[in-house]
Amino acid sequence: MKALVLKSPGNLVLTEIPGLPPPPEGWALVRVRRIGVCGTDIHAYNGNQPFFSYPRILGHELGVEIVQVAENARGLNQGDLCSVEPYLNCGRCIACRRGKENCCTSLQVLGVHVDGGQREFLHVPTAKLHGSRRLSLDQLALVETLGIGAHAVNRAAVEAGETVLVIGAGPIGMAVIQFAAAAGARVIAMDVNKARLAFCRDTLGVEDTLNASESDVLADVQRLTDGDLPTAVFDATGNPQSMMGSFAFPAHGGRLVFVGLFQGDVTFSDPGFHKRELTLMGSRNARSEDFTRIIGLIESGTIDTTPWITHRAPFADVPTRFQEWVKPGAGVLKAMIDL
Ligand SMILES: NC(=O)c1ccc[n+]([C@@H]2O[C@H](COP(=O)([O-])OP(=O)(O)OC[C@H]3O[C@@H](n4cnc5c(N)ncnc54)[C@H](O)[C@@H]3O)[C@@H](O)[C@H]2O)c1
Ligand SMILES: [Zn+2]
Ligand SMILES: [Zn+2]
Repeated sequence: MKALVLKSPGNLVLTEIPGLPPPPEGWALVRVRRIGVCGTDIHAYNGNQPFFSYPRILGHELGVEIVQVAENARGLNQGDLCSVEPYLNCGRCIACRRGKENCCTSLQVLGVHVDGGQREFLHVPTAKLHGSRRLSLDQLALVETLGIGAHAVNRAAVEAGETVLVIGAGPIGMAVIQFAAAAGARVIAMDVNKARLAFCRDTLGVEDTLNASESDVLADVQRLTDGDLPTAVFDATGNPQSMMGSFAFPAHGGRLVFVGLFQGDVTFSDPGFHKRELTLMGSRNARSEDFTRIIGLIESGTIDTTPWITHRAPFADVPTRFQEWVKPGAGVLKAMIDL
């Protein structure tokens, strides 16, 4: 079968790899039909993704079609279109035993720690396949990105009526925005990129957007909250300065959720942390139940992801097109690969 192999940073090649045997018990053989490209893939391509080894087949945002599956409790059949939950967990560790399989101690993410879906066929555990009769392949491939935002919003247990600040309006921040809004929160979005802030206003319906490079955003956030400050703050930038600066924004008694990540240390002033009695949370990946819920929300029209896709390419063109997509000025929000 054909696969896109990232041999080393910047060296993505279309090549032939051996075909797959029938799937092992509890797994299905799937044909990959759609692949979303994410910041993680771009970091891997650029050689700055932490804990990453080469060669690697990328691809963890997948819309697939089942080719072969034994009778199973999930009711999955040949021909079903599914989203893939790309987090392979051990099922035995302390996190798995406590229902936090998203942060399993030996988690293997498809396309990150093990080879992913940028190839024609893949074996996937049936427990990690989430089918829908109504979603398009594009929508199925977007469920994983949405899951990151849904999980972060669940971590903070966002409630209707509270004011939430989302810093960083990339695809991950946008997913946070959509689920915070779906939970009934009022959202303020902050970024340094005008085009992304415009997208938040025009497409996601966010009324208050702030450009962190243009004004005194703390004063702006205070003004927008009548001095209260937001009760939940999400940093989805992956930018250390932003993450360390984000401690200034939560209200007394509020929560700060780090959805973005970087390779390094975070420092903050303890008095500011203590006197506000802040809750600081990491948020990693998503839960299985998030996938089910998101598919339902897209089916019901509550979440609309169609405007996210800004770039598209057929499988064979990806080695060339990837070079364009990784350029900072390319304006990629979400690129989709068709096969
Ligand atoms: N929690 C998880 O499991 C998970 C999963 C996938 C990605 N991520 C992480 O989430 C982060 C965001 O991912 P993405 O794909 O949306 O990335 P992205 O680069 O597309 O978006 C980040 C946004 O942050 C903005 N930004 C950067 N510095 C800023 C600053 N100082 N102030 C305000 N805005 C700033 C950028 O302009 C950009 O719009 C990354 O760190 C990524 O690694 C986390
Ligand atoms: Zn991703
Ligand atoms: Zn585990």
